[in-house]
Amino acid sequence: MLLITNIGQAVTMALSGSKQARRSPRRAILMSQIGLIKDAALLIKEDKITALGSYPNLKKLIGGAKVKVLDAKGKVVLPGFVDCHTHAVFAAPRLKDFELRVKGWSYEQIAEKGGGIKRSLRDLRESTPEALKGMLERWCEVALRHGTTIMEVKSGYGLNYDSELKILRVIRDAQTPLELVATFMGAHALPQEHEGNRQGYIREITERMLPRFKGMAKFCDVFCDQGFFSPDESRRILEKAKRLGYGLKIHAEQLHRTGAARLGCDLSAVSVDHLDQVEDKDIRVLAKSPTLAVLLPGANLFLSTKRYPPARKMIEGGAAVALASDFNPGTSPTLNMGFILSLAVTQMRMSPEEALTAGTINGAWALGIAARVGSLETGKQADLILADVADYREIPYYFAVNMVGGVIKKGSVLFWN
Ligand code: NIG
Ligand code: FE
Repeated sequence: MLLITNIGQAVTMALSGSKQARRSPRRAILMSQIGLIKDAALLIKEDKITALGSYPNLKKLIGGAKVKVLDAKGKVVLPGFVDCHTHAVFAAPRLKDFELRVKGWSYEQIAEKGGGIKRSLRDLRESTPEALKGMLERWCEVALRHGTTIMEVKSGYGLNYDSELKILRVIRDAQTPLELVATFMGAHALPQEHEGNRQGYIREITERMLPRFKGMAKFCDVFCDQGFFSPDESRRILEKAKRLGYGLKIHAEQLHRTGAARLGCDLSAVSVDHLDQVEDKDIRVLAKSPTLAVLLPGANLFLSTKRYPPARKMIEGGAAVALASDFNPGTSPTLNMGFILSLAVTQMRMSPEEALTAGTINGAWALGIAARVGSLETGKQADLILADVADYREIPYYFAVNMVGGVIKKGSVLFWN
């Protein structure tokens, strides 16, 4: 048993209200409830949280049993971040794109000139599984140091059967304490060899890749946007994925408004992601649907887009909002979830409480694992972090500074300073 004592503030994310509220993603005013407990202690047995409350109460519970004690020194303890949207398997940074962007080129102009996703495709196809696995493991280390304890990882820089399989195997085989959730994203872009034969590539996805990759990926995602996949094409791919038992996700309304968010809600996707260009009518649909709105402000920052997704409108309109890093070599090369929370607060006017909800329990909802992780509650998996601050609001406040001083994953202490 492991006892964490002297927790100044425990951000539990536990809801006091009805059972019904606990059974669905947090939205509207519920996004502000972080279940704060002051002067707390927390008890872990094997990989689970077995008690949480005041120290004297917990002491009684333990009785004479042997426990290892960890001192939180009056600091903040919170659930590990659930980073529910990344493209973490790639072979190389895209420094040429980076330079061109500084010169004023747009994301689409760079893609047309052979940069963008297609650049990453060439790099990835040339890489060995061993090299990719080594890189992914290194990124997992970085994510853990920044307090992420579960990370979704998409394929999508292979874009043919062999290379997509290579990516999914790398995700499966990575040796890391970080828990990974795989998503198949063969519909990330049209690969060069299928130019002029879109239907051929879509058939390759629906007839060959999707059936074969079932069991290796929990979700299927599609980049639905102008110049990538149309809503009709996305629907075909996602409907097939759904029949095969995949959960669904869509990159929606990032560059243009295409109606992808609505399509996602229609198909009961677990999340629709990006949403820079959503309209009020899309928000109304989201508000009535269990589908989460995953916002990725790292991409807005890195692409210097003039506008961020309208998070306030979405929260006040009743959509369930989650936040993620979108870690990828083209639009968001960061794994720092604390910084993503800062961007949400400073650029999208989310409150610190809403941002914490979006980065933990709602991230868990966006991966379909909220019954197991995302909050500090008895019976849940012991995935938690120590933040080197006295007040939880300092987590988004100290922007781009990593305030994570400790991580416990499935009850194992990875580090604790
Ligand atoms: O989430 N929007 C599509 N996919 C990524 C970017 C991929 C890339 O440029 O490599 C994103 O922003
Ligand atoms: Fe993405």
